[in-house]
Amino acid sequence: MINMGGPKFLSEVENYLSRIFTDKDIMKLPFQKYFGAFLAKIRAPKVKKHYQIIGGKSPIYKWSNIQGEGMIYNFLQNKDKLLNCKDLNFSDIKHYIGFRYADPLTENAIIDMAKDGIDRVIVFSQYPQYCCSTTGSSLNAIYKFCNANKNLVENIKWSVIDRWHSHPGLIKAFSENIKSELNKFSIDKRKEVVILFSAHSLPLSVVKRGDLYPYEVSATVNLVMNELKWCNPYRLVWQSKVGPVEWLSPFTDDVIRSLVKRGHKNILLVPIAFTSDHIETLHEMDIEYIKDISEELKSYQNINIKRAPSLNDNLTFIKALADILQEHIMRREPFSNQMRLTCPHCINPVCLNMRNFFESQYS
Ligand code: FES
Repeated sequence: MINMGGPKFLSEVENYLSRIFTDKDIMKLPFQKYFGAFLAKIRAPKVKKHYQIIGGKSPIYKWSNIQGEGMIYNFLQNKDKLLNCKDLNFSDIKHYIGFRYADPLTENAIIDMAKDGIDRVIVFSQYPQYCCSTTGSSLNAIYKFCNANKNLVENIKWSVIDRWHSHPGLIKAFSENIKSELNKFSIDKRKEVVILFSAHSLPLSVVKRGDLYPYEVSATVNLVMNELKWCNPYRLVWQSKVGPVEWLSPFTDDVIRSLVKRGHKNILLVPIAFTSDHIETLHEMDIEYIKDISEELKSYQNINIKRAPSLNDNLTFIKALADILQEHIMRREPFSNQMRLTCPHCINPVCLNMRNFFESQYS
């Protein structure tokens, strides 16, 4: 289960940031190894304070384990439904967590799997929507590690669940959480609530390269609204911009301010691109967007901004993970058809090598 991860202790924050800022699949900086580490040092005190406020650590490891255990349990409950898979033995199936920027790091998860004698690995991206800066970065890292440690991984056969943004189970789980939160608005206001689907933004240079992330996030939003029978007005907005370059907008905080000033004071935020709580929900949404902006605009009166819960241990979601795993195994393919193409303007040779590596597992 690959994901970005988050620090489990405040002392890990600087290292965590440094790994992000030195990841060339996320951003390109001059003298990146040094400049990225320098940026991490500068930003760490502020970010540490944010983690301190949400309990001193990221909950992503806890939720990933709960989701992994639930996924395996539900998968095994239904394994008799696996067609054409009589040759496969699932008695030892288990989940490993591989984070890109925090412990347990993906590279260490691979070492653990090799030591445990694992011979079949399904890399399950925990980002529902594919982005070259998230799933792509993790897959490139896995490819690079395997290429440099061929002996270690020689007995492992790999495949990838690279995206599942339109899976019915995911859509249902989001819809359930939205409905339950909408019901907390008073009946006379419920129809007026503006649903703001908020996803992590990315630099426009990445969008222009042809990255599919904005389109896959839009697809998720569309399907969720269809499931909700288009019950309310809604918008897709973008959060967490950093640095001076231009990023995909409109930004979540700007849109909240604009809506309130135009009289739309009942707003429901929905984190649509992450599957568990993390700093962007617990601090950025709950504190910076909901608490601080409500306070800043209090002269507008009767502002009511809520957030739909993250998927975390939602049972519909955990069953969806098991279904996605089952469907992937039955397809017997290295990855989805969408992975066969790189971004039209990709200039990173690793992206193609990574695809060839996973494809070669099935040749
Ligand atoms: Fe998207 Fe290389 S940057 S495939």
